Amino acid sequence: MRIAMIAAVAENGAIGINNKLPWYLPGDLRYFKAVTMGKPVIMGRKTFDSLRKPLPGRTNIVITRDLNYQPEGVKVVHSLEDGLELAQNIGLINGLDEMMVIGGEQIYRLALEKADRLYLTKVYQSFDGDAWFPEVDLSQWSEVQREDHFSEDEPPMQFSYLVLDRTP
Ligand SMILES: NC(=O)c1ccc[n+]([C@@H]2O[C@H](COP(=O)([O-])OP(=O)(O)OC[C@H]3O[C@@H](n4cnc5c(N)ncnc54)[C@H](OP(=O)(O)O)[C@@H]3O)[C@@H](O)[C@H]2O)c1
Repeated sequence: MRIAMIAAVAENGAIGINNKLPWYLPGDLRYFKAVTMGKPVIMGRKTFDSLRKPLPGRTNIVITRDLNYQPEGVKVVHSLEDGLELAQNIGLINGLDEMMVIGGEQIYRLALEKADRLYLTKVYQSFDGDAWFPEVDLSQWSEVQREDHFSEDEPPMQFSYLVLDRTP
């Protein structure tokens, strides 16, 4: 089963501030929903806090060191490896070909070396941030898909949906 990461990343690498996204980009939220729907989603506890409730239609797997943490409607694990294994088992039972690592910074840093595919929304603007996407060594990745978009919401923004596969 493919391990994919999905993230929206600003020009300067920012992905979050004050446990929120730095921008309002409804098109990207719809894209995130379409790409992740039906698949197990693996996230850090802080990202789950920022969502406030489980993402519907997906098995939500939350990674924490807190052994007493058990919010309703999510599977709790205590390492990335346990999260990936659980997602693999869910995928096998449901005939899925992909699991999604959905952030945030701490979990992306752990997962990048294990990922086979990156769904990156590249936002062509810099933002203040306190959470950052890890540096991607582009020599290890091939762009397999790219869609350029322009959002006329306020403020207007240019962004692209990129799909990168690890070069064999
Ligand atoms: N732009 C995007 O696409 C995107 C996507 C997702 C998130 N974000 C943003 O990213 C930010 C959150 O990122 P973050 O790095 O602060 O937090 P995070 O990665 O979401 O979660 C961090 C938490 O995960 C748990 N954790 C981390 N490493 C662990 C390990 N090795 N073993 C067990 N548990 C572990 C810990 O939980 P405990 O403290 O409970 O032990 C830790 O506090 C927010 O601003 C959010 O909006 C952006």
